[in-house]
Amino acid sequence: METKVLPVSDESLALAADLLRRGELVALPTETVYGIAADARNGEAVKKIFEAKGRPQDNPLIVHICGMEMLRGIVAEVPERACKLAAAFWPGPLTMVLPKGPEVSPVTCAGLDTVGVRMPSHPVVQAVIRRSGVAFAAPSANLSGRPSPTNAADTFADMNGRLPLILDGGECTYGVESTVVSLAGKTPMLLRPGYVTREEMEQVLGEEVAVSHAILEKLNEGEVARSPGMKYKHYAPRAEVTILHGSFNAYRKYLASHAADGVWGLCFDGEAARLPVPCIEYGAEDDPAAQAHRLFSALRELDRNGAAVVYARCPEKDGVSMAVYNRLIRAAAFRVVEL
Ligand code: TXA
Ligand code: MG
Repeated sequence: METKVLPVSDESLALAADLLRRGELVALPTETVYGIAADARNGEAVKKIFEAKGRPQDNPLIVHICGMEMLRGIVAEVPERACKLAAAFWPGPLTMVLPKGPEVSPVTCAGLDTVGVRMPSHPVVQAVIRRSGVAFAAPSANLSGRPSPTNAADTFADMNGRLPLILDGGECTYGVESTVVSLAGKTPMLLRPGYVTREEMEQVLGEEVAVSHAILEKLNEGEVARSPGMKYKHYAPRAEVTILHGSFNAYRKYLASHAADGVWGLCFDGEAARLPVPCIEYGAEDDPAAQAHRLFSALRELDRNGAAVVYARCPEKDGVSMAVYNRLIRAAAFRVVEL
């Protein structure tokens, strides 16, 4: 299959809408990462997403909408908590897990009785939904297990030959996938951290948002993941990544004693010139939003440079940093060294 990469224009948006209505796939930018869209109601179309990504069939997809009225049929009910969070954070990088409605294909939800929904703020997504009239399921546009793409070139690198169209809308704003919060249980639970933080949601809801422990730690053997996505190895570059937790000086010393061919550092802005191995910088130490924006493209850059072993500086664990730590610890297969 030939994969076209087209800039966003009236014609390319019309083509995207047409493909979606015909049950085909379209890769497109969102404010978080690039996604692969297919009609969420059409099980045959959604199956093509799983094939294109090589994604396990038991990992559910998020449904994207462009107005509250589209929730009808997609979710079974809109609890008060969902109204509050939608008013505060939609359109934007927040996914809510709610009781599933009758119109969503079981393939989209991997057979669960809940569905993840979000209303993205990206103008290209909104235009495509409006033109097609299709609420689409869309996972990140990476091959399963690889870092999520944050630009059209990285999307093409993974999806060339696997789908007919990539809309090139430039770099994504946030660079990490949406926050996922479950509102389907008795109390709200954070399933995946993102740019919308736990603290911000607690403020809006006036109650605690529990944190699934799988966010920052490895699941125990045999433990059931609340969010199936959490059980898979994720975001991994080809290199073996290890997080080094400690001061810059301790990091520098550790690199000096481990320097060898193929050893790279993943460090904060302004540090590379002072380190004894080649390094990629992924944002300033005190700027978690910049780290989120840079992390996935930095991991792909390490691959392109042929890095075999990567030692990464450790982000914080709260606020937006929780999203960065959550992605990096999976890229590192949970390897952390205390310096
Ligand atoms: O920012 C994003 O959310 C991007 C863009 C493209 O919108 N999409 C994205 O989708 O990250 P994906 O498929 O890569 O990640 C979806 C995550 C997975 O971890 C999945 O397990 C979880 O959301 N999820 C989806 N539906 C769920 C449900 N019903 N219950 C629990 N977890 C769910
Ligand atoms: Mg993903």
